Amino acid sequence: MKKLLIAGNWKSNKTAREAIEWLGNFKLETQAPVVLFVPFTLLYPLKQEIDRLQIPIELGAQDVSPFPDGAYTGEVSARQIKDLADWVIIGHSERRKHFGETDEILEKKVSQARLAGLQIIYCVGDDVTVVPQGVDTVAYEPVWAIGTGKSDTPENANTVVGVIKAKTHVPVVIYGGSVTPENVSLFVSQEGIDGVLPGGASLDPIKFATLIKNACNLR
Ligand code: PGA
Repeated sequence: MKKLLIAGNWKSNKTAREAIEWLGNFKLETQAPVVLFVPFTLLYPLKQEIDRLQIPIELGAQDVSPFPDGAYTGEVSARQIKDLADWVIIGHSERRKHFGETDEILEKKVSQARLAGLQIIYCVGDDVTVVPQGVDTVAYEPVWAIGTGKSDTPENANTVVGVIKAKTHVPVVIYGGSVTPENVSLFVSQEGIDGVLPGGASLDPIKFATLIKNACNLR
């Protein structure tokens, strides 16, 4: 049985109070590895609460500075993230689009994350985008499928994931883009797809727990 990775991306949502409330309503019925990618401001309060309640969720940041600690106002370094989390998303299409992140910047981010010992999910929108060395997991997320309710077909996602694996030799490739509790099993039942990266469907704790349960029932 292949190990599934379920990674929720909260994007720029939730206050600390809302995040703690979410955790209180999140009832996990399976053993699948779950990682929650949350805004920087939520890493500390969520870590405290996850440790206190002994919930099997790992935490991740949604971005990282391309620089080490130092005079980079507004940035959060990989070392600061590693203090509170084990994972980071790099290269999400929203960062490429709204914040002008280029392949060159993203390579620096990967390098900083690796130095700090963070596990990286590197997002690509297709099978031609360059994936830097040292990435642990790739997320295939077609831009047109993100937040639109129109996911890729499981068959096409599987084909693209296969090409990414062959080209990059990254062993774990997951799919993201309008994943829901209803369609998740169609994706994870594909041979090459090792997990999913839901955004919108991770914001509600009951919906997210159902999504995880539906994903795991098949494996
Ligand atoms: P979505 O977002 O599930 O809301 O489409 C996925 C993502 O952007 O990671």
